[in-house]
Amino acid sequence: MAKENHGKNILYAQSGGVTPVINATAWAVVDAARKASAEVGGVLVGRDGIVGVLEESLINTAKIAASDLLRLRHTPAGAFGSCRYKLGTPESDPERYERILEVFDAHRIGYFFYNGGGDSQDTALKIAAFSRARGYPLQVIGLPKTIDNDLYGTDFSPGYGSVAKYIATSTQEAALDVASMSATSTKVFILEVMGRHAGWIAASSALGQRSPDDPPHLILFPERIFDPEDFLARVKQTVQSKGFCVVVASEGIRDRSGHFMAEGSGVDAFGHAQLGGVAPALAGLIGEALGYKHHWAVSDYLQRAARHLASKTDFEAAIAVGRQAVRMARAGAGEVMLTLLRSAGNPPRFRVGSVPLAEVANRERRFPADFMSADGYGISPRARLHLSPLIAGEAYPPYRHGVPDYCRLAHTLVKKRLSPFAAR
Ligand code: F6P
Repeated sequence: MAKENHGKNILYAQSGGVTPVINATAWAVVDAARKASAEVGGVLVGRDGIVGVLEESLINTAKIAASDLLRLRHTPAGAFGSCRYKLGTPESDPERYERILEVFDAHRIGYFFYNGGGDSQDTALKIAAFSRARGYPLQVIGLPKTIDNDLYGTDFSPGYGSVAKYIATSTQEAALDVASMSATSTKVFILEVMGRHAGWIAASSALGQRSPDDPPHLILFPERIFDPEDFLARVKQTVQSKGFCVVVASEGIRDRSGHFMAEGSGVDAFGHAQLGGVAPALAGLIGEALGYKHHWAVSDYLQRAARHLASKTDFEAAIAVGRQAVRMARAGAGEVMLTLLRSAGNPPRFRVGSVPLAEVANRERRFPADFMSADGYGISPRARLHLSPLIAGEAYPPYRHGVPDYCRLAHTLVKKRLSPFAAR
């Protein structure tokens, strides 16, 4: 650690869309810090991400009951609250940056761990640069997470593997259902999945296939222009040849003019459109043009919170980055995001590495063209090889009264020392 940070506290915060395993990372940070208490102080958590830092709403993890802490490891979503909150640049928004350092100083923060996607890594980078310019000793470490798997510089992002496992499983299960009904009833099933601009989640729907003929028959990636005529022809052909058709559509598919097929009226703080509604739109097209009986589903938050079906590989990666953050902080690191590196071999193993924050901030990694099948409606053997290890293994949560035993943390805040600040 930087000498001047010896014994100082860690500020951990969750940011952006949550995941089934982000709390496993939080748990690992708290656990590793407790084990290193000779060198680092306690772990404080920003309630609702960076907003909690600005408002000096800092959760004291020392007050979390031992039984809750254990359950935190396998509880989905963001147990401390997350945020979609954009900080301007230090030039346009100096007040907020000053406030963050004031809060850090008041609570003896020497380490800032920001657990988020590309936008959040950008926030982390700006805070690092500002504290450096002000001469405030702060080690900033970005912890990766996003179900979209679109973070640069890492083999995969914790959160993705679990959502991929859920989508692969759900696609297979729904396909069995429609197959059994198709002789006299439903012919088409459409599943909408998240992923915004990147088709990683849509691609995962193919991981349950045992042969190329297995469902899903058509995957619609956001990286490809959606062509309604071609799509309808493919649906018809599939129903005629196989008796039914399973479609998995990314929420982010666009038409020839670049418009999202299903864009709501809202945008978030980063200007990202709120998406959702592709499945019913496709169902409408199919119903009108082909008249097939169909069902559709929007997996939405169900996929993002499906901790009951987490991937063990993903869960272990989420824990590994949390532990490594504490190790790297003790070793003096800063201005990096932790990454996952894949070893050669089958199955591969994953270890934690790091890249400079500046290399990953604000970038999006799309689903590669050579990971798609030649016709663009499926995945290539290369993609299957790459993605399958990410859904390997089960990490079931314990159950109680027939449902997963998740924790609902009481947020015990540390005493405020500064005057109030209106962050929102
Ligand atoms: O976390 C990324 C993501 O899951 C996208 O796939 C999705 O479009 C978006 O979040 C939804 O975010 P929100 O919960 O803020 O509406």
